Amino acid sequence: MRLITLDEFIAINQEKHPEATGELSGLLRDIGLASKIVNRDLSKAGLVDAILGDAEKTNVQGEEVKKLDEFANNILIKCLKNSGECCGIASEEEDSFVAFENRKNAKYVVLFDPLDGSSNIDVIAPVGTIFSVFERISPKGELCTLEDFLQPGYKQAAAGYVIYGSSTMLVYTTGEGVNGFTLEPSIGEYCLSHPNITTPEMAKTYSMNQGNFNSFSDKVKSFVAYCQDGTTKKAFSLRYIGSMVADFHRDLLKGGIYLYPSTSDAPKGKLRLMYECNPMAFLQEQANGKATDGKQRILDIIPTELHQRTPVYIGSSKLVDMLSE
Ligand code: AHG
Ligand code: MN
Ligand code: MN
Repeated sequence: MRLITLDEFIAINQEKHPEATGELSGLLRDIGLASKIVNRDLSKAGLVDAILGDAEKTNVQGEEVKKLDEFANNILIKCLKNSGECCGIASEEEDSFVAFENRKNAKYVVLFDPLDGSSNIDVIAPVGTIFSVFERISPKGELCTLEDFLQPGYKQAAAGYVIYGSSTMLVYTTGEGVNGFTLEPSIGEYCLSHPNITTPEMAKTYSMNQGNFNSFSDKVKSFVAYCQDGTTKKAFSLRYIGSMVADFHRDLLKGGIYLYPSTSDAPKGKLRLMYECNPMAFLQEQANGKATDGKQRILDIIPTELHQRTPVYIGSSKLVDMLSE
């Protein structure tokens, strides 16, 4: 079988759009490169002290930072700064956005969760990198501004993730379907392995931290009861890794739902709109699924701050509908 590399795929798609400038293609290639560097170092976790464990500080959101969170964050910033297509970034691990002084003419801003599920690194469970790309609003030639980042999800130009699992895969969309590329380690290239991914509209799998059950709303509690009820139908399977990327990836390919409702500890939900929910919602909608906060489409939420959190229900459309108003 003839392998199509990520770079070839991007080039073929760019040819379909004579108006395209190639800037977005360049950006996607640079994100791919950054993820290969993260992947290489992740695979040494356990052997190299500098990789495993806590960085012994907390981020602006009060969460413990792992050494690999910092490492992945720095790699992404370095690759995007070099890229020439990115005028600034916002990251889960940065207090605020970073405007690139030397890239005032670049067209795009990128928001990312450099390492999702990082508490799983120490036990070698899958983790990931999630990214979201917007075209800037501020004029080229100037430093990018907060306004460039605080755009609703429906305006994303591209979004995707890399899952570092039993193999490494990059999945992305530019609004024309979802495609997945598996890293072929012997040649160091992402190769098209999952073209045109679509999510079944129904499946009997749910993913959530059910330990928070007592603080769920009645609606979420009844949904859990429905999933567990094996009298009128076969009960659902509960599958929860604790890395959104890994739980989402399973649902994207096989169907199912990922939920992180509000809880007493996290009244606004735990997951971040800009770094986790928006990019995953764009992907899921492009694959025929849905994503809501229980009241409205995730992609319609107007953001007010970079590190904003939201409840999220995402996956097979029929399951998400059961939790939406
Ligand atoms: P991160 O590692 O980027 O902080 O994200 C962790 C998120 C998400 O990936 C995961 O699904 C969720 O937190 C798990 O939360 P609980 O441990 O509360 O279940
Ligand atoms: Mn995360
Ligand atoms: Mn993270």
